[in-house]
Amino acid sequence: MNKRVTVFFATGNIGKVEEAERIFKEENIPLLHLPMKLLEIQSDDLEEIAVFSAQKAWEDQEKPLFVEDAGLFIKELKGFPGPYSSYVSKTVSNEGILKLMSQIEDRSAYFKAVIAFCNGKNTLTFKGEVKGEISREIRGTHGFGFDPIFIPEEGDGRTFGEMDISEKTAISHRTRALRKFAEWVKSTDSSKFI
Ligand code: IMP
Repeated sequence: MNKRVTVFFATGNIGKVEEAERIFKEENIPLLHLPMKLLEIQSDDLEEIAVFSAQKAWEDQEKPLFVEDAGLFIKELKGFPGPYSSYVSKTVSNEGILKLMSQIEDRSAYFKAVIAFCNGKNTLTFKGEVKGEISREIRGTHGFGFDPIFIPEEGDGRTFGEMDISEKTAISHRTRALRKFAEWVKSTDSSKFI
């Protein structure tokens, strides 16, 4: 196992850092937060966005780092807001999504997270998803973004916003991507890592 490697998480989102710190602690991998505003291209593909952001962040920092890009995909809205989740969350927010969904019966949705790791030579991606549905009202004050309107399928009917961080991270899209990434870190020789 590769214990000496420190992984840098480039993000401006402290909610994401808290989730990643829990997983990496469990996996016994040192994690450092690189607080930065990432450059994002406009694309319909989360993976493309994450890869671009990771490569740009590496050019800026020259450290083995990863970024994570996530989005909420709503079936009856043909995947909206998807890659535009951040903008939608900042503008119309949860109230706007609920309004758009007011006449919609099938409330199926999923969160997807893509991690892109870049060491200046290679860029690798790791993905995770969690299925669920959009609630009829805003519920809960925990978490961030769409947490108060997302009810995970594997839960007990509460939204992510009604769960504490450990309940959410047990099943979240981000956790799933982070665990795959952590497995890779642990099984990779440090000479290949840097
Ligand atoms: P980005 O990955 O920072 O571009 O995030 C996209 C947007 O999706 C965020 O601003 C949140 O609004 C939303 N989002 C991503 N992951 C989560 C999550 O775990 N819970 C709630 N909202 C999320």
